[in-house]
This record gives sequence, structure tokens and C-alpha cells, in this order.
Amino acid sequence: MKGIILSGGSGTRLSPLTKVTSKQLLPVYNKPMIMYPLETLLKAGIKDILIIVAPDHAGDYLNLLGSGKEFGARFAYEVQDKPEGLAQAFLIGENFIEQDSVCMILGDNIFEDDFSEIIKNFKSGAHIFAKQVPDPERFGVVKFDEKGTALQIEEKPKQFLSDYAITGLYIYDSRVTEAAKSVKPSLRGELEITELHNWYLKKGELKVDMVKGEWIDAGTFESLYRAGELARKKTK
Ligand code: DAU
Repeated sequence: MKGIILSGGSGTRLSPLTKVTSKQLLPVYNKPMIMYPLETLLKAGIKDILIIVAPDHAGDYLNLLGSGKEFGARFAYEVQDKPEGLAQAFLIGENFIEQDSVCMILGDNIFEDDFSEIIKNFKSGAHIFAKQVPDPERFGVVKFDEKGTALQIEEKPKQFLSDYAITGLYIYDSRVTEAAKSVKPSLRGELEITELHNWYLKKGELKVDMVKGEWIDAGTFESLYRAGELARKKTK
């Protein structure tokens, strides 16, 4: 299993904090935000990690994380020239992924859960994770039937569909690059990750599990603050 940390984008929602640095390098209590998703991958035993960054602060990531040796891992870097969508990561990462399965985590997503068993046991298809939230309109959401099988997935639906948000950790088999090539830009001009989930859902090969512990998408002032509080609580 290989890993990708998607850490590009412009972070405009956090301006002016993001005027001179990248969102995922902002402090969350005692370390830069990206260290949390990195630890999630390392804890799960993933050692080959591609870090995708925006051009502006690419050098800062290299200064912070280096070759990976310090973490007992190997890091590769790619630049995403423009934030053209989450699914683009699998086009940028095609040569890195090769014939392996891949676990992608968003650089601003902070998880308490340990995914090592799931990652060790992953064979094929796609495996994603949901969490009940009070503000589903901010996320991709998944609707389940009474048995808990995923029925429908939509990116930020205008009409209420479900309050189960899809979190920013995704496990796919190597066909994900083929799936990403079939995705067309959405109305907002992005290659949506939801299309990849639906590609597997249609084939009956999508598994959706619940995130048990805390999960924070630290992309707003409020959630960034909460992420700092959670990290502080866990450090004490
Ligand atoms: O946090 C989970 C949510 O992340 C999911 O529920 C949604 O399905 C998914 O689309 C995504 O929604 P967001 O609104 O949070 O996406 P955002 O545009 O904020 O991007 C998420 C992170 O990925 C952010 O840290 C920036 C980075 N990014 C984003 C885009 C569009 C990139 O590195 N490149 C990109 O092209």
C-alpha cells in the first residue's frame, strides 16, 4: 500500500493566515497541520508516501519533511499547478502508484482513529469512511439504506441527502488511475473525488465504514481552532 498526502489548494477560507504560507503548514497546537495526516499514514504502516503540494510553498514542505528518512519512510513530491480537484491527485500520482493500492489523505484532515488493520487487510475495490456531522453541506455526503449499505454519494448536495460526511481518507486499488481518467470537470471546474467513489459504487466495490474517533477537517477558522484543542488534549 502506498500513500498520498494531498496538500495543495489555496486555502482562501483561512486568509489572511494563508497569505504567506500554505494552509497545511499552519500550526495545530505544537506542530504543522500536515504532520497529523502524515502520522495517520505512518501509524498505519505506510512507508512510501507522495506529497502533492501547490507551487507557492513547495520548498517549505521539503524543508519540513525532507526525504522521509527521519520518519523511517520514503517521501516523493509532486507539484499540482492549479487546484483542479481532489481526483487529479491520481493522475499526478499515476507513475508513483504503479500497480499498487493507495491510501490518500487530505493534508488538512485530522483523525484520531488507527487505520492500520483496515489497511493491512485491504484487497481490492475502494474503502472510504463516513462520520455523522451537524454541517453536512460542507462535505461530500453518503446516504445509506436501513442495512447500512451505501446507496448514493453526492458532493455538497444543495438539498439535504444525509448527515453522514465522507471524510478525507480514501483507500483504492490500482484501478483508481483508470477511474480518474474518466472523470470530467464538475460545474465548479474540479475533478471531484465523489466521482471516483461512484465509479466503485456502480461496480458494487465500494465499502463505507464509520470513523469512530474524532475527525476534523481543519479548513475553517472554527475547525482549525478545534483541531488545536483536540491536539492539546491528546498531548497532555
Ligand atoms: O474534508 C472532507 C471533504 O474534502 C470531503 O467530504 C469532500 O467530498 C471533498 O471534496 C473535500 O471537500 P472540501 O470542500 O474540504 O475540499 P477542499 O476544496 O477544501 O479541498 C480539500 C483539501 O485538499 C484542502 O486541504 C486543499 C486540498 N486540495 C484541494 C483541491 C480542490 C488540493 O490539494 N488540490 C485541489 O485541487
